[in-house]
Amino acid sequence: MKRTTLISSFFVSIGLCFTLLTVAQTPLYKDKNAPVEKRISDLLKRMTLEEKILQLNQYTFGINNNPNNIGPEVKKLPNGIGSLIYFSADPVLRNQIQKKAMEESRLCIPILFGFDIIHGLRTVYPISIAQACSWNPDLVTQLCAVAAKESVLSGVDWTFSPMIDVARDPRWGRVSEGYGEDPYTNAVFGVASVKGYQGKNLSDSYSIAACLKHYVGYGMSEGGRDYRYSDVSAQSLWETYLPPYEACVKAGAATLMSGFNDISGVPATANYYTLTEILKKRWKHDGFVVSDWNAVKQLVWQGVAKDEKESGLKAFMAGVEMDMKDDIYRVHFPALVAEKKIPMKNIDDAVARVLRVKFRLGLFDEPYTKVVEEKERYLKPEDVALAQKLTEETMVLLKNKNNTLPLSANISKIALIGPMAKDQENIVGSWSFNVKTADAETLYDGIQKEFKNATINYALGCDFDGTNEAGFAEALDKANESEVIILCLGEKKTWSGENASRSTIALPAIQEKLMQELKKTGKPIILVLSNGRPLELVRLEPLADAIVEIWQPGIAGGTPLAGILSGRVNPSAKLAITFPLTTGQIPTYYNMRQCARPYGTEGNYQDISTEPLYWFGHGLSYTSFTYGDAKLSATKITKSQKMTVEVTVANSGSVKGKETVLWYISDPACSISRPMKELKYFEKKEINAGEKAVYKFEIDPMRDLSFTNATGKRFVEAGDFYVHVNNQKIKFEIVE
Ligand code: GLC
Repeated sequence: MKRTTLISSFFVSIGLCFTLLTVAQTPLYKDKNAPVEKRISDLLKRMTLEEKILQLNQYTFGINNNPNNIGPEVKKLPNGIGSLIYFSADPVLRNQIQKKAMEESRLCIPILFGFDIIHGLRTVYPISIAQACSWNPDLVTQLCAVAAKESVLSGVDWTFSPMIDVARDPRWGRVSEGYGEDPYTNAVFGVASVKGYQGKNLSDSYSIAACLKHYVGYGMSEGGRDYRYSDVSAQSLWETYLPPYEACVKAGAATLMSGFNDISGVPATANYYTLTEILKKRWKHDGFVVSDWNAVKQLVWQGVAKDEKESGLKAFMAGVEMDMKDDIYRVHFPALVAEKKIPMKNIDDAVARVLRVKFRLGLFDEPYTKVVEEKERYLKPEDVALAQKLTEETMVLLKNKNNTLPLSANISKIALIGPMAKDQENIVGSWSFNVKTADAETLYDGIQKEFKNATINYALGCDFDGTNEAGFAEALDKANESEVIILCLGEKKTWSGENASRSTIALPAIQEKLMQELKKTGKPIILVLSNGRPLELVRLEPLADAIVEIWQPGIAGGTPLAGILSGRVNPSAKLAITFPLTTGQIPTYYNMRQCARPYGTEGNYQDISTEPLYWFGHGLSYTSFTYGDAKLSATKITKSQKMTVEVTVANSGSVKGKETVLWYISDPACSISRPMKELKYFEKKEINAGEKAVYKFEIDPMRDLSFTNATGKRFVEAGDFYVHVNNQKIKFEIVE
C-alpha cells in the first residue's frame, strides 16, 4: 500500500474513531434527530429526583428587578428550574438566564419562559371579548401569530392564553378576557388562537406554546366575584364549560392552567375528575397543566388541605404537573416521595410531560432567543395594519337612530368630549403589561385625521369617576359651537381583568350626568363606549342618537373608529355577549335553558322589562341585509345522515357590507331540558350592494344536535328539532 494511502487511511480511521467517540459521548436526549419520546426517556433515566422535581416548578423573574441587581437575581435562580414567568421581555437577559441553565446545570435542561400575552405584546390588539364580536377567527389567528413572533423575539416561549371560560355574569372583570357567553364561540376563537400561537409546528421559529385557561368553570364564579366557588352541575360542566377546552385540546394546545375556582366543592386545582379522568384519560392530552398563581397553596384556604404539604400532594395527584410561584412542589416533594405518598411513576409522567413540551418547542436544540434590534421586534407596519383591520371588525354599532351615522362628509364642527377621547392608558385594556402608552393612537387623533376639513372642538368634560363637574361648562360650550357631539365614555382598564369584579355594570354617575347635561344642548349625540364588559345603559341609551361599542381596541383604535364614523368602514360586528338592561337583570344570556314559563313576563323581574337591552348577536350595519327563506335539504333524516340548510342573503342597501349568519338549533322535547337555542355554526361574508350570497350550514346530528349526559356521554335523540337563522325557525325531524 502506498505511503500516502497509508497516511490518509490513518487519518480517516482517527476521524472515524473520534466520530464514534463523540456519538457515544453525546447522550441520546441531545440528538435532535432522535424521536422526542426516546429523548424524553433517555433524559429521565439520567435525572436525579431533585432535578425532576425542579422541572415541576415555575418561579417569576423580572418583577421589580432593576438592571443593577440582575446579576444577583440570576444567581439566586436554582440551576435546573423548570420554568419562569418572565416579566422583562428582554431577549438578552433571557439568554443570560438560559445560559446558566445550559452551561451550569448538570444535564443542561432549558428553562421554559412563560408570560401573559393575552391580546398582543407590543402590537396590542382588541381584547378577547371584542375579538369574538368580529366573528372573524382567521384574523384572530393572524394576530396571535404576530403576538407569538413578538413574544419569541422578547424571550418568551409560552403564553398563558387563550382564556376560554364561558362567562355570563358581566360583573366578573374577566369577561373581558374570554370570548363571551356561548360555548361554541369560545371553542372557535380558542382554536383560532391556539393555531395562531402554535403555528403549524411548535418547533417553528416563531411558534409559542398556548395555555388554555382557567380549566375549568372559572366563569361561573359566584356573583361574578373572583376567586369564589362555582356551583357547576355535572350537566353544565359537560354542556357549557368543557366544550371549548375539548375543542382546543383536540387542536393541539400544549398546556392548560387550572383555575382558582372550585367545581361544586372540589377545587379545579385538585380535581382528579377534570384534570386526569377527562383531560388525560378521555382526551389523551399529553402536554401538561400548570396551576394558576399560588393556586396550590390556596387549596388550604379552600378547605381541602390541612397544610401546604397536603395541598401539594392533592394538586399533583389530581393532575397538576407544574406549580406556579408558591414553591410547594420543590419544598415538599422529596418527603412525599420518600413517604411513598407520591409514586415515582407519577413524578416521571409529570416530568415527561414538561420535557415533551420543551422538546416539541425545540428548546433543547435552540435554547437561545435570536437578538434583534428593538425596532425590528415590534410594531411592524404590516402588523399594525392587521390590528387595525381586526379592530374595524370588532366595533359594534348598537344604535343608529335616523341614520345619524355615518356623519356627512361636509360636517364642519365636531364636539369631541369625554375621558376616553384622548386616552392612551385605558384604551389598551387589561393584560397589556408590555405596551408603551405612546404607542396607542387616541380616538381624537383618528377622528382628526379622518375629518380633515372639520374643526374638532375637544373637551374632557369629566374624569372616569369622582364628582368633579368643573369640566362640564367647557364641554357644553364646545357642544354648543358644534353640529354633533361625539361623547367618548367608558371604563378604566383596571376595572376589568383579574380581581376587577364590580357590584354594578353601570358607568360612574359623573359620566351619566355629563351625558344628561349635553343632551340639553339639543345636539345629536354619538355615544362611543370603551369598556371591558357589557354595561348598564338603560339611562344612557335614550339620550343617544347612535351608540358605537369599541371595547378596548388596543393601540390601533382611533383610525378604525373614525372610519366607522365617516362611513369609510361599514360596521360588521355583532355582540358575543348580551347587554342586560340593568345589573339587576344578571344573569341573562341567549342560551338560557328552557323553563316552566319561558314566555311573557311570568318568572321575570316584575319591576323592569324582561328583555335585555341588546341580545347576543346584535349589531347594525350601514346597509341592509334581506334574508330569503331558509331551505332544508331534507325535513327528516336518521341520526347517521347529514343534511344542509341554506339561506340567500341580499345586500339590499347602497353600500357593501360584511354579514355574519349565525346558525342555531333547538331541541324542544328531549330527555333533559336544553337551552332555548344553541349556536352551532357561523359564517361571515362580504356582499356588494345589490348582490346576494348563499350561506350554508351542514347539520351533522352527532356534532350539532346531540347533548351530553352528566357523565359526558353524547346522545342524539329522535324527535323534532328546529334550525334558527335570523328570525326564521324551521322544523325538521330526526328518526331512529
Ligand atoms: C393570574 C391569572 C392568570 C395568569 C397568571 C400568571 O393570577 O389568574 O390568568 O395567567 O396569574 O400571571
